[in-house]
Amino acid sequence: MSSPPVLPDGWTLVALETVGSTNDEAARLADCGAPEGTVVWSREQTGGRGRRGRRWSSPIGNLYSSTILRPECAAAQAAELGFVAALAVADMVPPGRQVRVKWPNDVLVDGGKIAGILLESAVANGGRVLYVVAGIGVNVGFAPQLPEMRYPGAALGGTVETALETLAAALARRLADWRRDGFFGVREAWLAQAGPLGAEVDVKLGDGLVRGRFAGIDQEGALLLDTADGPRRIVSGELLGRAA
Ligand code: BTN
Repeated sequence: MSSPPVLPDGWTLVALETVGSTNDEAARLADCGAPEGTVVWSREQTGGRGRRGRRWSSPIGNLYSSTILRPECAAAQAAELGFVAALAVADMVPPGRQVRVKWPNDVLVDGGKIAGILLESAVANGGRVLYVVAGIGVNVGFAPQLPEMRYPGAALGGTVETALETLAAALARRLADWRRDGFFGVREAWLAQAGPLGAEVDVKLGDGLVRGRFAGIDQEGALLLDTADGPRRIVSGELLGRAA
């Protein structure tokens, strides 16, 4: 039996064998006052959730974790944490493999999706964030291939315990950077690992599709596209696999 994962100083691990969704358990604990750095980790999830109401296949063998964050910011700013989380996942990848972040917060390794990030927050009446749950699923032992997936899957390899330690350490580091430098530094680091500027991309907006050339992200994390009809700023949508 391997030793339990070691988390950064001041962080606390809640280790479960099985749960519906680690995000739900983390939100429940946060509602009861659990502090930042509380990490809910489960060997499997019976109701793992992805973005846009998709399910997240969660059998034993991959990493399912949700970390409580208390960023003390306005709700709009909390979306920046998705980029922070994506950078932390990218930090987990050993040298020699190609890492690319995809807007808004996908991480691809050698062209395959290695992780999923689902941020869920609670906001007070005045608009301040009470907490954010950063739910992160990382393919460690295997890469699920589901028909609804926009990218092929990829897996990190190694053990789930090591992956959790590496992820928590990277998340703590990237969070500290965000608190110190704001989104400016996060954006720079994210762009350095994104696809090339000018690459052709498709973005799904509801039922429609926008085609254009990748022009980066702005100071609020919105996607910038150069389209045939001029520049476009996209706040919410899904990047579909083409070049960038
Ligand atoms: C995506 O659609 O890409 C996001 C997937 C997020 C999955 C993780 S696994 C841990 C946490 N618990 C959940 O139910 N979802 C997130």
